[in-house]
Amino acid sequence: MPRLLAGKLVIATHNAGKLAEMRELLSPYGVAAIAAAELGLPEPEETGASFVSNAVIKARAAAGSANIPALADDSGLCVAALKGAPGINSARWAGVARDFGAAMKKVEQALHAANARAPIRAHFVSALALAFPDGEAQSFEGKVFGELVFPPRGNLGFGYDPIFLPDGFSRTFGEMTGHEKHGIPADDSPALSHRARAFQAFARACLVNR
Ligand code: IMP
Repeated sequence: MPRLLAGKLVIATHNAGKLAEMRELLSPYGVAAIAAAELGLPEPEETGASFVSNAVIKARAAAGSANIPALADDSGLCVAALKGAPGINSARWAGVARDFGAAMKKVEQALHAANARAPIRAHFVSALALAFPDGEAQSFEGKVFGELVFPPRGNLGFGYDPIFLPDGFSRTFGEMTGHEKHGIPADDSPALSHRARAFQAFARACLVNR
């Protein structure tokens, strides 16, 4: 049975883009979201083989250190013609400098080397894990499908947003406002982004005042 949640929650991410999106998503629920960095929590090594296992690793580490529930996201871009890469290595493709201009170039070069032709099918995945200080954890997954476009378009959002064109849209995530990308529809129909879709599943199961 899912455990209901109220009060304080640590957001177990050191990624400013994800933190901003999670804060926006949580804002209607009266949950005080504290960033892992504000508490000086260390970033655990992401040694899992899947998005879910890495999200659980991050959420458990943060809940254990902070002694309050923690929510973590592990996400990435999976490109069909690259056998799912960069996948769980999406952040690593940007190197220590977190240079996503370089990471998007790397994707383009890998597609060229693989002789991939348009449309370049891809999807984003977000696994959200909620963990409690006693180690109990639940996870939720969201995906959004689309294709990749080069050169990158738009400077909104973060990471690989400028090359991702979601199915049914003519603008990339990099050209969309936060509200368009991850706003939760009032009628509770599916949101657009992978993280917002995972969040909807999490909110249905765990948030109380909705
Ligand atoms: P991690 O989950 O911290 O391992 O990092 C996942 C990486 O995937 C991020 O650093 C981004 O580069 C990429 N990513 C995940 N979600 C998004 C998104 O919504 N837009 C663009 N890039 C994303």
